[in-house]
Amino acid sequence: MKIFVVGGAGYIGSVCTELLLDEGHEVAIFDNLIEGHRRAVDSRVNFIRGELADRAQIESALTGTRPDAVMHFAAYALVPESMRDPSKYFRNNISNGLNLLDAMLKTEVRRIIFSSTCAIFGPPDRVPIDESAVPRPISPYGESKLAFEKILRWYDEIHGFKFVSLRYFNAAGATGRSRSVKARISKSTGPITRRLTAHAFAITSTLSILRTRTFWRLGQPPAASTTLARAAAPVFRR
Ligand SMILES: NC(=O)c1ccc[n+]([C@@H]2O[C@H](COP(=O)([O-])OP(=O)(O)OC[C@H]3O[C@@H](n4cnc5c(N)ncnc54)[C@H](O)[C@@H]3O)[C@@H](O)[C@H]2O)c1
Repeated sequence: MKIFVVGGAGYIGSVCTELLLDEGHEVAIFDNLIEGHRRAVDSRVNFIRGELADRAQIESALTGTRPDAVMHFAAYALVPESMRDPSKYFRNNISNGLNLLDAMLKTEVRRIIFSSTCAIFGPPDRVPIDESAVPRPISPYGESKLAFEKILRWYDEIHGFKFVSLRYFNAAGATGRSRSVKARISKSTGPITRRLTAHAFAITSTLSILRTRTFWRLGQPPAASTTLARAAAPVFRR
């Protein structure tokens, strides 16, 4: 399939892009590089430097690539910053996201996988948190993601969009190529974040080597791509 990855130069988007390419999909990335890194972008993709705030840019990128589905990773994603500057979060995560949905509508692309977040839940009544937990965000960041989930539901109801919202918890790890994580390490500003990311990188690289070897022997795909494929199934099903 042809997948249009918005925010594919960022941490999670670049790793997912690598998995998609490895599984034989064709990928175009749309990213303004405000948080992402050009060197995190796999050389096999069609990279479009563009800004979601610019409706014409996103529309022309979709017209030029004609994807089967969109994966939407682009957002601001820092809770403390969202408490200081809520407007920045509502504007990028909701208004600019709406530009994407309307451009999809115009170009007749109706499948989307949205990067939501565990921050939509707030303090949980019970753990582990599952999908039935009541969303009660306690930050503009979480609120912006919950709002976009609701918008997607209405675009489904009214315009026939097919969507999945993935509510990630804190992601850590790397693929074999590990480009995106190296980029992430250099991006992190605080020494603690840098050290934690480096440790996560070391641990997950080792685990990933072990897992890949095991899966080679068992003839099964790596767990990450299996999970991704399972989560995305409702959108990719024709
Ligand atoms: N990293 C995590 O642990 C985590 C946890 C929960 C949810 N999420 C969500 O997953 C998604 C990806 O997270 P990440 O850690 O990879 O973030 P990231 O900042 O590394 O990647 C986001 C990418 O989107 C791009 N972008 C942002 N605004 C844009 C715009 N207006 N136009 C074009 N491109 C734009 C950035 O340049 C960047 O490359 C985000 O939506 C985030 O809210 C991440």
